[in-house]
Amino acid sequence: MCGIVGYVGHRPASDLLLDGLSRLEYRGYDSAGIAVVEDREIAVRKRRGRVAGLIELIESHPVEGSIGIGHTRWATHGDPSDVNSHPHLDESGRVVLVHNGVIENHDRLKARLSETGCGFRSSTDTEVVAQLIGWHLEQFIESGHAADDPETCWSALRATLDELEGTYGLGVLFRDCPGHLWAARCGSPLVIGVGEQEYFLASDTSPLIGYTRDVVYLDDHDTARLGRDEIEVRHRDVGTRDVAVQTIQDEAVDVELGEFPHYMLKEIYEQPDSIRSAMRGRMDGDDATAVFGGLNADAGELRRIDRIVLTACGTSWHAGLVGEYLIEEFARIPTEVEYASELRYRNAPLTDTTMVFAITQSGETADTLAAVRECRRKGHKTLAICNTVGSTIAREADGGIYLHAGPEIGVASTKAFTSQVTVLALLALYLGRMRHMSFRAGEAFLESLEAMPELVARTLECHDAVREVARRFADCGNFLYLGRQYNFPVALEGALKLKEISYIHAEGYPAAEMKHGPIALVDERTPSVFVTPRGGVYEKVVSNLEEIKARGGPVIAIAGPDDERIAGLVDEVIPVPDVPEFLQPLVTSIPLQLLAYEVALLRGCDVDRPRNLAKSVTVE
Ligand code: F6R
Repeated sequence: MCGIVGYVGHRPASDLLLDGLSRLEYRGYDSAGIAVVEDREIAVRKRRGRVAGLIELIESHPVEGSIGIGHTRWATHGDPSDVNSHPHLDESGRVVLVHNGVIENHDRLKARLSETGCGFRSSTDTEVVAQLIGWHLEQFIESGHAADDPETCWSALRATLDELEGTYGLGVLFRDCPGHLWAARCGSPLVIGVGEQEYFLASDTSPLIGYTRDVVYLDDHDTARLGRDEIEVRHRDVGTRDVAVQTIQDEAVDVELGEFPHYMLKEIYEQPDSIRSAMRGRMDGDDATAVFGGLNADAGELRRIDRIVLTACGTSWHAGLVGEYLIEEFARIPTEVEYASELRYRNAPLTDTTMVFAITQSGETADTLAAVRECRRKGHKTLAICNTVGSTIAREADGGIYLHAGPEIGVASTKAFTSQVTVLALLALYLGRMRHMSFRAGEAFLESLEAMPELVARTLECHDAVREVARRFADCGNFLYLGRQYNFPVALEGALKLKEISYIHAEGYPAAEMKHGPIALVDERTPSVFVTPRGGVYEKVVSNLEEIKARGGPVIAIAGPDDERIAGLVDEVIPVPDVPEFLQPLVTSIPLQLLAYEVALLRGCDVDRPRNLAKSVTVE
């Protein structure tokens, strides 16, 4: 949440900062701002609202200079307003900074600084950091340190960081030391891009694309100083540390919308390819199993596992629930999916033979990261199923599996879900084949999986039918989503998609549970979306569906092709191809993604930037 950019080099900083902010806007869009230093003057431009508004402001009030910082905000402390927008200056005007994270002891620090006469302009926790750096800087200057000596700036920054409790990614400029840009990280990601006589700073690699592929990831408790020709990274207790430059791969490249009006739609349509990428190089036909390069666990260790915990948040948790069903069915290993925010605090009794997998698109979700750290602290092997290469969870986990889905920019997760399910299916196969699963069963599994990209492409043909359904029901205020077995997580995911981008209240339930309470909600204005393709629980779901119809509730069914029986019972049918039950989530989730998208459009919602949300939830 919140996006940070920084630049020091030879080009006009404001162009690069605005370009970077546009690409980071999915992390928060309450306000945007930049600060540039030139001739020992700090120029700040910021305003409430989108980056587009900031661009207009800078067109009419340009800033000069080749060193600067920028920020796009997801408000935590203080309402989204011009004054609460970042960057924030200290009172003396010597220090300016941008921040991602939460300073938990900001009240105490603010009270102390106020006693020294410091006046605050905003109601943010961030301004406290700027004021505190300014206060320490003043102390160092008064005791004889030169304001233009980088060591003085390091010292003021270090003294401040030592007082902070909470999380931060910071980009900081000092007016009197104008050739340098400082960064500091604790709990909020930061990456440095290394160019030719220029350095970039960013919350993730998306703003670097097209400028450089060489990056340095900062670790927690690192601070960095960037000059046009130099970089120095210091770690809290160790001092200056070696800087390891890594090269990011091609897959981070495609962040353009192309012919699509929204990232969400583009990403829905990318799913045949993203599922193919999740499988690429991982299907071993000779042994009828899967192969994974980065698990960092040998066969003996994997055979000893007698319990698996999958931990995640939101959509990734829903994929985890599909994973639980897959692993238990095919590998017969008891598996639970745990909300990361619960796992981290509840002291779950994990044993030496428990393996933990954290599932995360971004690799930066604060709760998932904390759960990973907690499990590792207790000595449990913790692996990641992650999309974002080089993200914090990917780097901190003991090993893992990348999704290779390419960047997911739409705030509502779509292709990451189907890629996670694909990888979890491969994992179930892999673990199953090490145990009792026969060669023949493994072969059939692989064959079914291999057909999925094509079947998902065919599923997308339901888009017109979905549009019709959306038109008919877009003004309803409540929806129920119901499914059984593998389609229960799909019902949860469908309800989440609708809630988050169209702001309609929706509940996902196992179809049979509806009788135990939610059926009281059913009336002629509350559609029930039944996920009911052909399979072992088909008859049971049809009975549940009839129970809703008997009470006058409209029913929309996601059903197999040419399912006349369902067509005769329900108000609307959206057809999906027949696929084996264990892979149904890969097709049944698609019309639900499209339905949420179409309903949101009809209701005039901002599909890629739903209110109150941001991609990458980096606060607890
Ligand atoms: C919903 C959505 C969120 C994320 C959740 C976890 O569309 O995107 O529910 O799934 O915040 O994010 P990751 O997977 O990045 O850990």
